[in-house]
Amino acid sequence: MHFSQLFVALLTAAPADCQLDKLAKAAGLKYFGTAVDNPALNNQQYMRIARDKDEFGSITPANGQKWSNTEPSQGRFNYGSGDAIANVAKQTGQLLRCHTLVWYNQLPGYVSSNYNRDQMQRIITTHIQNVAGHYKGQCYAWDVVNEAFEDDGKFRQSAMYRAMGIDYITHSFKIAAQTDPSTKLYYNDFNIERCCNAKINATLAMVKTVQAAGARIDGIGMQGHSRVGKSPSKRELMDTMARFSELVQEVAFTEVDIRHTKLPTTAADREQQAKDYVDVVGACLETPKCVGITIWDYTDQYSWIPGQYPGEGEACLWDRSYNKKVAYTSVASLLQSAAEAGLRGKAVATPAVDVGEGGKVTVRTVAAEATGVGR
Ligand code: G3I
Repeated sequence: MHFSQLFVALLTAAPADCQLDKLAKAAGLKYFGTAVDNPALNNQQYMRIARDKDEFGSITPANGQKWSNTEPSQGRFNYGSGDAIANVAKQTGQLLRCHTLVWYNQLPGYVSSNYNRDQMQRIITTHIQNVAGHYKGQCYAWDVVNEAFEDDGKFRQSAMYRAMGIDYITHSFKIAAQTDPSTKLYYNDFNIERCCNAKINATLAMVKTVQAAGARIDGIGMQGHSRVGKSPSKRELMDTMARFSELVQEVAFTEVDIRHTKLPTTAADREQQAKDYVDVVGACLETPKCVGITIWDYTDQYSWIPGQYPGEGEACLWDRSYNKKVAYTSVASLLQSAAEAGLRGKAVATPAVDVGEGGKVTVRTVAAEATGVGR
C-alpha cells in the first residue's frame, strides 16, 4: 500500500464534536445505531443518550419485535414491547432497524410442534403479514431471517427448516416483500465476519438459491459479536463484505459488541478492544456497500453478555456508569478522520491507540489519500 498523503492527528480526548452518528454521516455512512431493550426505557440517564440523534441515527429493538413478544400464542398479536421502541424512533426521527421475523430462538412453544410443510408455511405467512404489516412504513430494514446456519455451515434444524427445508427462507422473504415493499430485507447472522468460513460459504449459497427462486434479499447483516483480541481483522472483514456485496445491495454490521473474556480488564485489554472496534468501523468505511453499524447496546449496564457468558463482558462503548471508553474515543476519531479526508469507500489506515496512565488516550490516526488503495 502506498500513501501519497499522510496526516497524523494527535488527540488526547474524543473529538470536540464527537457524536457517533453525526460523524458517521459526515464520513458517508447512513447511520451509527444501537440496540435498545425494553427494560432500559424507564432509565432517564440511558434514554438521554439513546434518544440523541447525533449519537445514534438508528435504533433496533433488542427483543421487542421477536416472535415470543409479537405472537406469543397463535394468532394473538401483541405489539406493546415493539411499539415502545418504535415510538422512540418516531418521536426522535431515528431510523428503526426492525429485528427479527423468523428466528429459531425466542419462539413460543406452538411454533416448534411438528408441522407439515403447508401448516408451517401458513404459520410463517400469518406471522410476517401481521408483524411486518403492523410496522409497515416504519422500518428502514427488517432482519427477515436470522441465524439459519450452524457454525459448520449446515442448516440449523429449526422448526421451520424441519418442515420446509430452505423454502422457509425463500417464503419468508417473499411474504416480507409483499407485506412491506419499501423496507430493506436482510438476512442476519453471527460468525459470518471472518473470511471465509463454512458458514459464510453456506450463506452465500443460500442467498443465491433464494434469489434464484424469485425472492428479494437486499442486505446481509453481519452481527459482529466478538472477543477482544480474537476479532477478525479489518482485511478479513472487508474480504467477507466484498463477497456479500456481489449478491446484495447493502451490507451492515448489525449487533456489534466486543467482549473481554477476563475481568477486570487492564489498560492493554481496553486498548486492544479499541483496536478491534476500530477494525470493524474501518472495514465498514472502506466497503462501498456497507451502510452502517449498530452496536448491541451502547452501555455495559444493559449488555446481554454477562447473562450468557458469566465472567465475561464490558463489551460496549460506554461502561455501566455511562463513561465513554477508549474504544468510543477511537471509533469517534476514526470517523472524524474519515469525514475530514473524504475517505468513504477508500483505504483508511487503522489508528494507533495508546492508553497512558489514568486512562489518558492518545489516538494517532494515519489516513491514506482517497485514491482507492487497499480496496
Ligand atoms: O422475558 C423474560 C422475562 O419475562 C423474565 O422476567 C426475564 C428473567 O430473566 O427473562 C426475560 O427473557 C429474557 C429476554 O432476553 C428478554 O429480556 C431472556 O431470559 C434472555 O435470554 C433474552 O436474551 C436476549 C437474547 O437475544 C435471547 O437469545 C438478549 O436480551 C438479546 O440481546 C439477544 O439478542 C440476540 C439477537 O436477537 C440475535 N443475535 C444474537 C443476540 C445475542 O444473543
